[in-house]
Amino acid sequence: MILKGKKGIIFGALDTKSIAWKVAELAHAEGAEFILSNAPIALRMGAINELAAKTNSEVIGCDVTLEEDMNNLIDAAVAKYGKLDFVLHSIGMSLNVRKKIPYTELNYDFMHKTLDISAISFHRLMQTLLKKDAMNEWGSIVALSYIAAQRVFPDYSEMADAKSLLESFARSFGYHYGKSKKVRVNTISQSPTPTTAGSGVGGFDAFFNYADKMSPLGNAPSEACANYVVSLFSDYTRYVTMQNLFHDGGFSFTGISSDLMDIVVKSGE
Ligand SMILES: NC(=O)c1ccc[n+]([C@@H]2O[C@H](COP(=O)([O-])OP(=O)(O)OC[C@H]3O[C@@H](n4cnc5c(N)ncnc54)[C@H](O)[C@@H]3O)[C@@H](O)[C@H]2O)c1
Repeated sequence: MILKGKKGIIFGALDTKSIAWKVAELAHAEGAEFILSNAPIALRMGAINELAAKTNSEVIGCDVTLEEDMNNLIDAAVAKYGKLDFVLHSIGMSLNVRKKIPYTELNYDFMHKTLDISAISFHRLMQTLLKKDAMNEWGSIVALSYIAAQRVFPDYSEMADAKSLLESFARSFGYHYGKSKKVRVNTISQSPTPTTAGSGVGGFDAFFNYADKMSPLGNAPSEACANYVVSLFSDYTRYVTMQNLFHDGGFSFTGISSDLMDIVVKSGE
C-alpha cells in the first residue's frame, strides 16, 4: 500500500492495453484514489467506465489541447480531494503518423496538433496545476516518453520531436516546480509496447522484436512500467526529479546483443 492516502489524476486509459490502464489498476491496489481522464472522443468508446468501476474512480473528460477543459478538470479534482499527490500524463497522438505521411513531407497543421496533444499539453497541465496551487509538497508528475527523443527511429516520425519537447518540459518545468513547491517531474522512456498508440507506428512489430532482441532483459511490459510509475508516485523516490528514466530492459545502453549478432552473421552466410 505504498500509495495509501494519495490522490491524483491518471490521463490516457483508452482500453485494457493502455499503459495508463495498468497504472490505474496498480495505483488502486496500492491504496491511491484518483480521477480518470481522457479526451471526450475516447470516453465515447466506453471501456474506461469498466476501469472506473473496478478502481472506484470518477471519469472526467478533458481534451488536453483545451485550456478550458484542463481548468475544469483540475478544479473538479481539487474540489473532490483537496491538493493532489500525483498526476500521470500518458498521452500521445500524431495525425502525420496515422496517415503514414513521410517525415520529409509532413503536414504542418497536423504537426501543430501532434505537438499540442503529445507535448505542449504536458506544459499546459503543469502550468494549470501550479497556477491553482493544486499539488501537495513532494507530489509527483510523470509523463511517458520513448527513446526516439535521443536516437533516430525513422518510422516514429514527428513523434520523436514531440517526445524531445516533452522531455525538455520535464526538465525545465521540473526546475520551477521543484524550487517553488517541492514537486517532482519526470518522464519514463518505455520499451515498445503493444497498445493502440504503439501499434499505430509503421513497422511496429519489427521494432518491437528488434528492441526485444537488443535488450538484455527483453522489452519491459506495460505491467512493469506501471510498477515503475507507481514507485515514482510513492515517497520512496522523493529526490528524483527532472529526469528522463529509461525503462527498457537495458536497450538504451546496449550497442549490439549476441542475439542480433547471430542474426547478422547468419544473414551474411
Ligand atoms: N506503446 C508504446 O510503444 C510506447 C512506448 C513508449 C512511450 N509510449 C507513450 O505512452 C503513452 C501512452 O500510450 P499507450 O501506448 O498506452 O497508448 P494508448 O493509445 O492506449 O494511449 C494514448 C492515449 O492518449 C489519449 N489522447 C489522444 N489525444 C488526446 C487528447 N487530445 N486529449 C486527451 N487525451 C488524448 C488517447 O485517448 C489514449 O488514451 C504515450 O505518451 C505514448 O507515446 C508508448
